[in-house]
Amino acid sequence: MHINRIAGIVLAGGTGTRLAPTTRVVNKHLLPIYDRPAISFSLDVMRDCGAETVVIVGNAADVTTYSSIHDWLGYQDLPIRTVVQERPDGVAGAIACGHRQFRGTDFNRFIVMLGDTLYIGPTDWTREVVDRVRGHGASVAVTEHPNPRDFGVVDCAADRSVLQVREKVPADGPRLVCTGLYGFDDTLGDRLQAITPSRRGELEVTSLLNSYVTDSTLTAVTIPQCVEWFDIGTPDRLLDASMTYRTKVHRRSGTSFETIGAH
Ligand code: DAU
Repeated sequence: MHINRIAGIVLAGGTGTRLAPTTRVVNKHLLPIYDRPAISFSLDVMRDCGAETVVIVGNAADVTTYSSIHDWLGYQDLPIRTVVQERPDGVAGAIACGHRQFRGTDFNRFIVMLGDTLYIGPTDWTREVVDRVRGHGASVAVTEHPNPRDFGVVDCAADRSVLQVREKVPADGPRLVCTGLYGFDDTLGDRLQAITPSRRGELEVTSLLNSYVTDSTLTAVTIPQCVEWFDIGTPDRLLDASMTYRTKVHRRSGTSFETIGAH
């Protein structure tokens, strides 16, 4: 029996309203970060975390694009499937959609990444997010952010165990926030089934994380200082991400994405 099988789930659905009108015709995760589509950053992380296979959760309109991803983006070494999220009912709803693809399999750890998340810099540290799960529990990649009100805010103990996660709460000053990368054990499916919609009618990732907090099994992994994190959900952040990528990685290495995505 395999006891260490890691499956990846990349969320690439949702409405992308803050990037409208472009996102009425092009999905946010396909927008370019300088010379490569945003979703390729998540696929790099999946590969570096040791995911054996990946499910991309997307909208019906994009299923053809994602289903042919090997043809136009590379990643031939990474089996990738696509599943349609019928309704954008929240981040946890999208995770559930992806996780259903693994029902009845012996995958026992799951690495989940929000497809609009970018880590610019080395990605080897992301392996720690799955390593922390170690048989049971969950982990979340965090960083300190000066404007935490747009994100999930995390309260931690000194040993990095998470005491509380709250979604988009007013906060004064810098706080630790969820950056969009999570590791989960094989209780994920049961926990997802127990989640009910929040006041805004969404199945929230915070509810999922807090079910692990209740069991004292959620750990925070701080992203290294040499890594810059972006959530490309707004025009400014999308532009900042492109500029940073061009300056820090592309220009320095002189490597084109043609060669990055191919292996
Ligand atoms: O960027 C980090 C933040 O991402 C975290 O700090 C928050 O805790 C987390 O909830 C999330 O907040 P956002 O407001 O940025 O979530 P957004 O609606 O942008 O969705 C995140 C990703 O999930 C994005 O790639 C689209 C995808 N998604 C979202 C929804 C609501 C889906 O695939 N399906 C959905 O139904």
